[in-house]
Formats: sequence, structure tokens, C-alpha cells
Amino acid sequence: MAKASPQFTCTECGAAHKKWAGKCDACGAWNSIVEEAPLSTGPASKTLGAAKGRRIELSTLAADEAPPPRTRSGMTEFDRVLGGGLVPASAILVGGDPGIGKSTLLLQAVANFARSGLKCLYISGEEASAQVRMRAARLGLSEAPVQLGAETNLRNILTTLEAERPDLVVIDSIQTMWADMVEAAPGSVSQVRAAAHELVTFAKTRGVSVILVGHVTKEGQIAGPRVVEHMVDTVLYFEGERGHQFRILRAVKNRFGPASEIGVFEMTGAGLAEVANPSALFLSERGQAAPGSAVFAGIEGTRPVLTEIQALVAPSSLASPRRTVVGLDSGRVSTILAVLESRCGIPFTGLDVFLNVAGGMKVLEPAADLALAASLLSAREDVALPPDLVIFGEISLSAALRPVGQAENRLKEAEKLGFSQAVAPQGTKVEGGAGMRLRKLPDLVTFVGDMFGAG
Ligand code: TYD
Ligand code: MG
Repeated sequence: MAKASPQFTCTECGAAHKKWAGKCDACGAWNSIVEEAPLSTGPASKTLGAAKGRRIELSTLAADEAPPPRTRSGMTEFDRVLGGGLVPASAILVGGDPGIGKSTLLLQAVANFARSGLKCLYISGEEASAQVRMRAARLGLSEAPVQLGAETNLRNILTTLEAERPDLVVIDSIQTMWADMVEAAPGSVSQVRAAAHELVTFAKTRGVSVILVGHVTKEGQIAGPRVVEHMVDTVLYFEGERGHQFRILRAVKNRFGPASEIGVFEMTGAGLAEVANPSALFLSERGQAAPGSAVFAGIEGTRPVLTEIQALVAPSSLASPRRTVVGLDSGRVSTILAVLESRCGIPFTGLDVFLNVAGGMKVLEPAADLALAASLLSAREDVALPPDLVIFGEISLSAALRPVGQAENRLKEAEKLGFSQAVAPQGTKVEGGAGMRLRKLPDLVTFVGDMFGAG
């Protein structure tokens, strides 16, 4: 048998490489490739043939299966991100930066599920039971019927789960789990993969839901949550900015519900509080009409959310001026700067550009293009936009404005928050007269003329 050659794996995305490289060409991360023992070296990896397998049962597509029964935790924001509650035997990954509040969120969620009648286990591989109990006391959850364990050995955990047969188990975190059949350090790609695989298989065969916590890692040796994304049914990321109390739980993949749904929370002294009206929260820091500020009427998952896009444009002393973008797609920003320059004749050469979404929110919808352009123009011309104006629409490379979906929902949310005028692309379909003054424009050039005088 040929000697197994060493294998190199990216700790960011899990891609396999033949040899070491400084940059992973699969995900673009630097210094993330490490050498790993090959996973399978047995004769099975040669050729299987049609010999020894068991014939599997096949069925037709037609089925009248009922939708899965869901259990709600009662935390509305959490339930919505799951797609309306927890599905039995599902595997969920909750990723996020260390210290963002994952353990806090899941302890609160698991306590609520336990109160709604599920048998729940919380296994901590990072903290001692006493520490988790202290957090529970701080959160006022000491009375919740959650069973708590502190363990990192996967074999012991699986044995316990087999005996207890809970409805839901939280594993905090997958990087601390250690499977003794894999010869690699805890946290390495092979360990994290093996542990996740065992836990997900257990979930599926025994009807237990598992929630895996995964830290987003910044450097080399520890595998990140992306390595297990493909194994689970639902991938949630818990995001937020340090120094801000807002936290956003975002579904990036969900086999049981809409992806890109968000739940908004606020970190308080007594744990995470749900934010029922995120638009009001994201706009709460808005001062009086300032140049560079534009309000975007967006859709996150199934619900409209208004956010403020802020731009600052200043003369640059650098040969290649700065383009600093927080909370928006920087590729999109470059495209819009190019469209403004070549189609509208408004150059940004020699100017530093800073863009930000207020409140630590991330806006990735193409519908934000027009609001983004508006904030750039408003900053560059030093002219404030009307404070009661919301904007949405996609910009094409020819500078035409393209209509986007759910216009009516966007306008209704804006109206609810006291906005009275909107700018949207021509062709935007609005049934009935929303109580807003809506201007529909064909292209960016018209918008510039309309808002800032002759462009
Ligand atoms: P934690 O849930 O431990 O983060 P993670 O599991 O993602 O690493 O949360 C850590 C932070 O949250 C810590 O800085 C303290 C803060 N926090 C509060 O502000 N209020 C609270 O009630 C709790 C429990 C934590
Ligand atoms: Mg934690």
C-alpha cells in the first residue's frame, strides 16, 4: 500500500491542499494552512467496488409528510432566526468572535427551551460548572431545569447523551472537544471535524437536537466554525461590535427556514435583551440632518429594517486614497464610486472615503446601492439630505436604477418610523397609496440632479 502523503488543510475553510502555501486559494486567508494527518488511510480509500454493501431502500418524491413540529423558546428573536422554533434532531452551529456573548445567548435559550418542556443539557468545555452556574445566577436562570456538565472528552459526552437522551444539547465549544480516536490536538481541523461529525450523526440517529458553539478564530492553529458549516442544518453567526451593546444573530444557512433572517439583541448587565423594533434602535443615534447620512430602507430576511449609512469624504494626502468600509461590501462601494465617476462625472480621486453603517449593522443587500451613493454624494457636496427621506434601489453599471423586491414593506416600515418621503427606482411597484411622497427615478444622473442641483 502506498504511504499516505501528508495533507495540508486550511483552518479557515477546511480546504485540502497538496502542499503548504502562505495563502489559501479556496478562501483567500493568509497563514491558515497547516499540516494534518491524513484522515483515512485504510484500504477502503482505494476502491470500493460493488461487493459488500447493503442495498439501500429507495422511495419516490411524493410524500405527505407533515412539517416538522417546532418548539419555541419564547425568545422571539431567537425563534425567528431558527425559522420559527427548534426542529427536533437538527444540528445548529452558532459562530462568533470570542467574548461576543455566545455562551450567554445559548444559556438563556437553553433555559427557555427547558422551561417550555424540553429536556436540555448544557456541556461546557471551556468553563467549570461553577462558572456557568454563576452566569446563570447573574441571568436569573438558576431555577431553569437545565442539566449542566463540564467535559471535553467526546466519548464521555456521547455516553452521557446516550444514557440521558435529552431533546437538546448545547456543546460550548466545538473547538474544545477532543475525540480520542483522532491523533491531533484539540482545536485542529481533524479534531473539530471528527467531533462535529460524531455529534451531528448522534443528533440524526437519536433524534437529539445539538447546538454547537464555534469561535471565529483569528490565527493559524485553531480551526474556525466554517470547517463544520457543511455538516449542520443551520448556521447562525452572532455579530456585533466591541463597544456597542447591539448584537445581531444572523442565519447564513437554514434547511428549515429562510436564510439571512436576523434577530437583534442588546447586551445588558443581566444578559441579552431582545430588541423588538430594530429600525428604531439603529436610527436612535442619528442626530440632526448631517451631510453624509442617508437612511436605507432594507429587508433582512422576512422583515424590513431601516439603517443609517454614514459617509465621510475628505481630501487625501496619500498617493492612493483610503477606502475604509465598515458594514458594507467594499467591492460594491468601489463599483458605485466608479459609476459615479464615469457615468455621472463626479470623481473621487484625491479624496479619502470612509463609510459606515450605524449601530454595528451589516448591510449586504444590493438594494442599498442608491442609499450608499446618496451618502457619498451628500458627504462630498457637504449637503445634508432631508431628514425625513428614505432611499432604496439597486444601481447597474450603466447607472440605471433597478427596482428591488418588497418595496411596499420598506415604505410601510419607514412610514411607521415617521419618514414622509422616499426615493426609489422607476418601475418600483407599490399597490395602494402608502402615505409617503414617493419619487421614482430612472437613473443615477437624474438622482444627482434632483438631490444636489445640476450634477
Ligand atoms: P460570553 O457569553 O462569555 O461570550 P462568548 O461565549 O461568545 O465568548 O459573554 C462575554 C461578555 O458578555 C463579557 O464581556 C461580559 C458580557 N456580559 C454582559 O455584559 N452581561 C451579562 O449578563 C453577561 C452574562 C455577560
Ligand atoms: Mg463562551
